[in-house]
Amino acid sequence: MTDHDKNKKCDIGLIGLGVMGRNFAQNMADHGFSVAGYDRDQEKIQALMFEKTKQQDLRAGHDIKEFLGLLSRPRAVLLLVPAGGPVDAVIEELLLHLEPEDLIIDSGNSRFTDTNRRIRSVEDKGFLFLGMGVSGGESGARRGPSLMPGGTRKGYDRIDKILKATAARVDNDPCVAYLGPGSAGHYVKMVHNGIEYAVMQLISETYDLMKRGLQMEPDELHAVFDRMNQEELSSYLIEITADIFFQKDENTGNPLIDVILDEARQKGTGEWTAWDALELQVPTFNIDIAVMMRDMSANKKLREKAAHVLKGPMSHFEGERDLIIHRIKNALYAAMIIAYTQGMALLAQASNKYGYGLDLETVARIWRGGCIIRAALLEHIRSAYQSNASLENMLLDDHLGREVVAREKDLRYIVGTGAALGLPIPGLMMALSYFDAFRSSRLPANLIMAQRDYFGAHTYARVDAAGTFHTKWEKQ
Ligand code: 6PG
Repeated sequence: MTDHDKNKKCDIGLIGLGVMGRNFAQNMADHGFSVAGYDRDQEKIQALMFEKTKQQDLRAGHDIKEFLGLLSRPRAVLLLVPAGGPVDAVIEELLLHLEPEDLIIDSGNSRFTDTNRRIRSVEDKGFLFLGMGVSGGESGARRGPSLMPGGTRKGYDRIDKILKATAARVDNDPCVAYLGPGSAGHYVKMVHNGIEYAVMQLISETYDLMKRGLQMEPDELHAVFDRMNQEELSSYLIEITADIFFQKDENTGNPLIDVILDEARQKGTGEWTAWDALELQVPTFNIDIAVMMRDMSANKKLREKAAHVLKGPMSHFEGERDLIIHRIKNALYAAMIIAYTQGMALLAQASNKYGYGLDLETVARIWRGGCIIRAALLEHIRSAYQSNASLENMLLDDHLGREVVAREKDLRYIVGTGAALGLPIPGLMMALSYFDAFRSSRLPANLIMAQRDYFGAHTYARVDAAGTFHTKWEKQ
């Protein structure tokens, strides 16, 4: 860096220099942008300066004033701090020093309702605000994440170049796009995580089917998932699953997977998705059940107690192993399409309700690379919305619908057999039930309406006449 460069102010500032923040700062610097970093923890500042290479224009402020003084005006300050209170605390501090037209970009996993609140308070004071979902974990932040920004368009335009340069690329197409006003970006990231939960649950069920139902060992599971990753299921989550089965425990030399405690933790984004889907009345069976199964898993002690007293079937698959594995693979792909279907349906409804104006083709496009749910399937999802931007449900797309129908028998067989074996596979069951419910032109909801009218005079509609009706059901 020349003296002239040193006097030049930085293009962007980044607050929150944990591993994600440092990696993202380095990513931006690698693409030729000058970046100033700040963290309350001086050790993290030192870590950033220690990791920086000669070519990178990375600087650090030791307090907020020094940090902001390093930035060109109007300033752009990106936050990568934990969601919730820490974001509010940093914004509060920033507001004491920023000037109108300065831009704040919250890049954490913030709840979209918090983003709405922050936008209102920050914009009232003349600042610009973006809520940006960042997916891809630490390595994504370093090598190219999927970025989901939403908020003030003017703010996005100001940092468009930086985001496009740092995002992951698929066929040279950056995995970032302005998604819409307000909390559009954080909403899309929330649903991304909801789909992430659903797919992780489905994959873990297929693991259980093969481990307990087929008595397969981790090295065999590695080979199966590795093969899956070469075919239509090719995706980041299948790829890392294959890797996980290969990993040995450093202490014992045994497969690491076998010594990991079966209690799933969660930070809340899956629950938020399920919660808002309920609010918007969009059925997201697979996202909801994925959250519930994490909750069920967390009850380890109680499950151990129940395992002693509640007896049920626990046998193994009969039949040809390769054929069963093939059917499990087909069931998983069908269920995965159904899980993404639910997420996209939620986005469509949220877009209407919250005025995001989301373009679902764009969402599928920027999820194709960098993020946790990147998958070959997203190319087909993208095509589906490209040919019909107002597609009401992904299963009504010719290609995607056909893919599910072609695997329906295998999904049904695996669900039936898994249930007969006593293996908990609620994700696969939910996917099948979603499919069956969605393709039922008549559901038994008529009985529910009759019951409601019976006990509460809630009235019902008829199939053969317009209007609302009530019956005196109880015999006098
Ligand atoms: C991503 C991940 C990321 C994170 C989740 C984990 O897109 O990079 O989704 O956001 O790993 O927060 O969520 P849980 O702790 O709830 O599983």
